[in-house]
Amino acid sequence: MATIIDGKAVAAAVKERAAAQARELEARGVTPCLAVVLVGDDPASASYVRMKERDCAEVGIESRDHRLPAETPQDELDELIDRLNADPAVDGILVQMPLPKHLDAESVIARISPEKDVDGFHPESLGRLVRGLPGFRACTPAGVMEMLHAYGIDPTGMDAVVVGRSTIVGKPMALLLLEANATVTVCHSRTRDLPAVCREADLLVAAIGRPEMIDSSYVKPGAVVIDVGINRTEKGMVGDVDFASVEPVASAISPVPGGVGPMTRAMLVANTLEAARLRADASQS
Ligand code: GUN
Repeated sequence: MATIIDGKAVAAAVKERAAAQARELEARGVTPCLAVVLVGDDPASASYVRMKERDCAEVGIESRDHRLPAETPQDELDELIDRLNADPAVDGILVQMPLPKHLDAESVIARISPEKDVDGFHPESLGRLVRGLPGFRACTPAGVMEMLHAYGIDPTGMDAVVVGRSTIVGKPMALLLLEANATVTVCHSRTRDLPAVCREADLLVAAIGRPEMIDSSYVKPGAVVIDVGINRTEKGMVGDVDFASVEPVASAISPVPGGVGPMTRAMLVANTLEAARLRADASQS
């Protein structure tokens, strides 16, 4: 029987801490503020944005909603980012991904001021992570680290395998685990004998985007298994891990839903508060 890692409970604790910080800032005359930009009407993105805005309201972060039509040209989106960068009341900027195909997501991400990059996607934020410098960490991998910490799971010396090499999850996840003294292997679609590599893992992080692909044949008995997948299927939302197959062999496992998902949003809130605190400190020093 594995320990079920309760992301909702850890996220609630992170948000409680954030709410206390928001009250402190409020007392100093600073209202933390997140600008949320959604281009187009993808229903999944609209639902994520709604949840993020609800989280902000819960902890005392003002959110400013910028909804743009799907056909918005690049220069209009660029102008909006420039205005938000220049607006002293805005602490964090979140541009919900994916953007419509005609827009250049890389240039939009790079345009956001690194001080307001609460998603941690900016090349400067990623560069700071590589260099071990303070900066905003991408919310999903940061959320995984927070979950591990909350359950007393120290990656030091562990063989960690990350399945997936995306810039949003896989790569920063590997770097954060490395920073936490794990021995890290990153796997991807070209990895030879993926199950064999995964079976070496003391800590297995699945971030592939394939519904329930990781079954017990990928898992060493006693491993910690973190499921980053969010796949909408006919059965409803499922992760990248076949929970029923893996739970009996793992020592701890994060479920979907109720695992990493709530943590991603909690870390966005935490990053936004950090941005607001840095702004308040800078303006009062
Ligand atoms: N789309 C899916 N996940 C994310 C995220 O963490 N941030 C943004 N901006 N877009 C996303």
